[in-house]
Amino acid sequence: MIIAPSLLAANFARLDREVGRAARSGAEWLHLDIMDGHFVPNLSFGPDIVRAVRPLTRQFLDVHLMCSRPEILLEPFAKAGADQLTVHVELGTRVDALLWKIRSLGIKAGLAINPPTPMHTVRPYLKTIDLLLVMTVNPGFGGQSFIHEAVPKIQQAALWQEELQLAYRIEVDGGINVETAHECAVAGADTFVSGTGLFRQPHMASAVRRMRRAVENAGQRRALTPPVPIGAT
Ligand code: DX5
Ligand code: ZN
Repeated sequence: MIIAPSLLAANFARLDREVGRAARSGAEWLHLDIMDGHFVPNLSFGPDIVRAVRPLTRQFLDVHLMCSRPEILLEPFAKAGADQLTVHVELGTRVDALLWKIRSLGIKAGLAINPPTPMHTVRPYLKTIDLLLVMTVNPGFGGQSFIHEAVPKIQQAALWQEELQLAYRIEVDGGINVETAHECAVAGADTFVSGTGLFRQPHMASAVRRMRRAVENAGQRRALTPPVPIGAT
């Protein structure tokens, strides 16, 4: 299991201190949300922030590109120190070339799917990705409520992983707290992004511990109840 605090919920005025909190929290990854004001109705930050963060932590930098033209950003983010770049399946016919380009930069490649997008769209790429990001809110803003309708997609992702004997991670992002992390873990998620649920807690390390425990408990439940996807495709 991997826990990834999302920097979007940090206090940007104290970025070094915030990155330090995450680095000492026990979380394995740091999630960085890149928004271009076009693919999503918000702006966040660019490669320079990744470059500034890189020397401050040993965490794996998980960069989520919510951008209409990721083509122009892949190399700058890889050079800035990203360990993984995730692009959205909603970009359609460009996805293949984007994933190929990410891998050719020597880093891991992720594919994200928004809540309204049907799961069959990610099916052709499963053999070529390191991670499938099932969005559990409509991307663009932190602090939104978890969309429960996304849970069958996690089950479908886990089912395909097993059927096809693939090792891609199943990441969830949006409205993740102790309760929703548990629900996603029961469905088959193994990687948990959380902004508000971790950065906005006074003690991030204890919040990470609580989330880890909730996910571990779900592992036991999952062994008893195999996933049954309903309307997931
Ligand atoms: C949403 C972003 C998320 C965001 C999650 O567009 O992709 O990574 O930071 O924030 P919370 O955990 O507050 O919903
Ligand atoms: Zn994200």
